Amino acid sequence: MKVNIRKEKIATCKTDVLVVFHFQDAGLQGMVAELDTQCQGVLSRMIDAGDVKGTLYETAVTYTGDVIGVRRIILVGLGKKEDFTQEKLRGASAAGARKVRDLHIKEYTLLPAISQSRLSLEDTIEAAVEGALLGLYRFTSYKTKKAESEPVERVTLITEDSADIAPMKKVARSSETICSAVYLVRDLVSTPSNEMTPTILAERARALTDTTNLTLKIVEESGMKRMNMNALLGVSRGSTEPAKLIVLTYSGAPKASSPIALVGKGITFDSGGISLKPADRMDEMKDDMGGGAVVIAVLKAAADLQLPVNLVGIVPAAENLPSGCALKPGDILRSLSGQTIEIKNTDAEGRLILADALTYAHRFKPEAIIDVATLTGACVVALGEQIVGMLGTDSTAKDILRRASETTGEALWELPLRQEYEELLKSDVADMKNTGTRYGGTITAALFLKKFVGAFPWVHLDIAGPVLATQDRPYIPKGASGIGVRLLIQFLKYWIERRDGSAS
Ligand code: BES
Ligand code: MN
Ligand code: ZN
Repeated sequence: MKVNIRKEKIATCKTDVLVVFHFQDAGLQGMVAELDTQCQGVLSRMIDAGDVKGTLYETAVTYTGDVIGVRRIILVGLGKKEDFTQEKLRGASAAGARKVRDLHIKEYTLLPAISQSRLSLEDTIEAAVEGALLGLYRFTSYKTKKAESEPVERVTLITEDSADIAPMKKVARSSETICSAVYLVRDLVSTPSNEMTPTILAERARALTDTTNLTLKIVEESGMKRMNMNALLGVSRGSTEPAKLIVLTYSGAPKASSPIALVGKGITFDSGGISLKPADRMDEMKDDMGGGAVVIAVLKAAADLQLPVNLVGIVPAAENLPSGCALKPGDILRSLSGQTIEIKNTDAEGRLILADALTYAHRFKPEAIIDVATLTGACVVALGEQIVGMLGTDSTAKDILRRASETTGEALWELPLRQEYEELLKSDVADMKNTGTRYGGTITAALFLKKFVGAFPWVHLDIAGPVLATQDRPYIPKGASGIGVRLLIQFLKYWIERRDGSAS
């Protein structure tokens, strides 16, 4: 969908449908009140009669009778004024956009002005654009019949004030860029594993370098063997699909400034391997490259936004399958770091491929390492399907991630990286084993990763729960959520702000 910004007065606006917002129990305000006057009180009559309450995400459609150029109005409820947040505006904007699509309308106009909201113009536009774009996403690549409703093609955000135009355009362009990165993740994650192999994922990363200022290097299995990346190779061994180590770099800052390393788990299908998973919901394990997809998309967005930072994105990609040559419980792998790992469960494969990728990250001497992974079912048990688990050694990065999370609405919660639990990873025969005991699985997984980050500041994000929305959410349609993209872009912006603030 295209996003336009235009200076327009209500009186002269010509549109099939105008979407406006209003608070619950607050009467119509500002430009919405003016709109009501111009269409002879059609909106206030609906509200006074109690037909429309303005509860959160409620939508109501009315015709104006063509007394003005606006043919229909969609009123979207924002809920109570005192509870209003930017996150609610994202959802409300999505509700309005979906209503437009339900009405089979291809272009709509949006009045983003919300009088008496505490949001800045920038935050308002950002939420309105993000909500509309993210809420309208659909994955249709494999549907041979057209959807019941055609896609919405254009939204035009209007303002009466010409001073608003430049900032509105600026925010809208950047929100579009970020949303297209979220779309990329949703597409990559939704694509089934027969068409999203490590090779294809690497090709998709390569395709980005045609249009974006990114450099790509693919380490093939031959290279991995030379380097001794045996943890990654071990996981991949059961599959006929070759593993790939995808390395994307973005240089937005002077060469001398060390990069932030983003590492993402890229298991294109996780059957569990010889420690086979139950059949029920195994299909969902096509999403096990969700972290890797986030890393690829964040590099793309950072380059498109020209963020002044250096980044390296590292995505170990492999398929975890059982076969005659698969990794077996009891096997011992010698990782790139030199540390040996006894395999207790071949389904704890994410940490194995990440171990080598984290070690590989050292060569970039990163300022910080952030990894993103659908790592543990235990994290879903602990935090549910909507909250990212965070564990790590660097309180600065963790604080900035928390702030970013509040800004973008992607909830996260820190779990303790208790050193006491490291005991649970002790092996009788190797330096460590790849699983702990039954309980605290997210923590032991993170403690395992910690053995491979060296002295670099590090944070791990477990997105096993939120990678997938199992039902529609306000601006996340059921399916791959794209969680982590907006979070990490916002993290980078705050990281840059802090760096520049402390430098001057
Ligand atoms: N990819 C899974 C984790 C996962 C589970 C992601 C559910 C999304 C939803 C991971 O590779 C895995 O299988 N982890 C095991 C670890 C266990 C064997 C120690 C798990 O969580 O059961
Ligand atoms: Mn697994
Ligand atoms: Zn997995």
